Amino acid sequence: MANNLLQGKRGVISGALDENSIAWKVAERCVAQGATIVLTNAPVAMRMGEINNLAEKINAQIIPADATDMADLENLFGKSVEILGGPLDFVLHSIGMSLNVRKKKDYTDLNYEWMQKSFDISAISFHRMMQTLYKMDAMNDWGSILGLTYIAAQRTFPDYSEMAESKALLESFARSFGYHWALKKQVRVNTISQSPTKTTAGSGVKGFGEFYDYADKMSPLGNASADACADYCVAMFSDYTRMVTMQNLYHDGGFSSMGMNPAVLGL
Ligand code: NAI
Repeated sequence: MANNLLQGKRGVISGALDENSIAWKVAERCVAQGATIVLTNAPVAMRMGEINNLAEKINAQIIPADATDMADLENLFGKSVEILGGPLDFVLHSIGMSLNVRKKKDYTDLNYEWMQKSFDISAISFHRMMQTLYKMDAMNDWGSILGLTYIAAQRTFPDYSEMAESKALLESFARSFGYHWALKKQVRVNTISQSPTKTTAGSGVKGFGEFYDYADKMSPLGNASADACADYCVAMFSDYTRMVTMQNLYHDGGFSSMGMNPAVLGL
C-alpha cells in the first residue's frame, strides 16, 4: 500500500523503542509513503539499542532527547530541520510512562512527586514539543502534529491509574495548542485514541492481557492493531486531512460507541 501519500514531506517521530512500539510502525509506514524522517527517543531508551536497527532499515538518523528537557527538544528540532533540509511537515508524540503504575502504587495511595513526573513525561512533554517547535518556527504551513492517547481519558478503567489524567491533559493540550498553531501556520493538532496494543507501555498496565481480550470482543471490528494505527497516522500526516484539527480521533474498531456487545457475554 505505497501511494506516496507523504512524498517530499519531512517529519520527526518519537517513541520507537522496539518493533512492537506503535511509533516503530508509524516510522516504517511514513518512509514507505515517501517521507524522510528523524527518529528520537529518551537517552535511556538508546541503551536498549533496538532503535538503531530501525534507523538502519529506513535510513533515518536518531537524535536522542528526553521529552521533559527543553534543551534536548531545542537540539532535536534544530538538528532535524538541518538534517532534513527544511521545516517539518509532521511530528508524532508517542510517549507515555507512569511511575506510580510502574511501581505498582494503588490509585488510592499515589505518590504525588511520581504523579507530577508521569504528567510531565506523558502529557506536558506534548506541550513542550509544540512550544519548542512554535518558538523555533520549525513547522511548515499546513503541517500536522499528532499525539497518541487512550479512552481512559473519558471513561474509568481502574488499572490505568494516573495515566487516565495524563491522557486527559494530553488531549486538552491538543485542543488548546491546536488553536494557536492554526493561526500561526495552518498546522493541525490532533490526538488518536488507540485500542489496547501489545507494547512495552501497554503491557505495563495490570491485567493488560485480559483487558486486551475484553476490548477485542467489545469492538465490532476487533482491536485496532499498531499497523492499522500507523496507517491512520499516515492519513493524518497526508494532505487529505488538512481541515481536521483540535480533535480526539477514536481508532478503536468501534469500542467507544458500544454499550454492550453480546460477544462479550458469549451470546
Ligand atoms: P512503547 O513503550 O513502545 O512507547 C513508549 C515510548 O515512550 C518509549 O519509546 C519510551 O522510550 C518513550 N519515553 C518514555 N519516557 C520518555 C522521555 N522522558 N522522553 C522521550 N521518550 C520517552 O509503547 P506504545 O504503546 O507504543 O506507546 C506509545 C504511545 O501510545 C503512548 O503515548 C501510549 O500511552 C499510547 N497508547 C498506547 C496504547 C497501548 O495499549 N499500547 C493504547 C493507547 C495509547
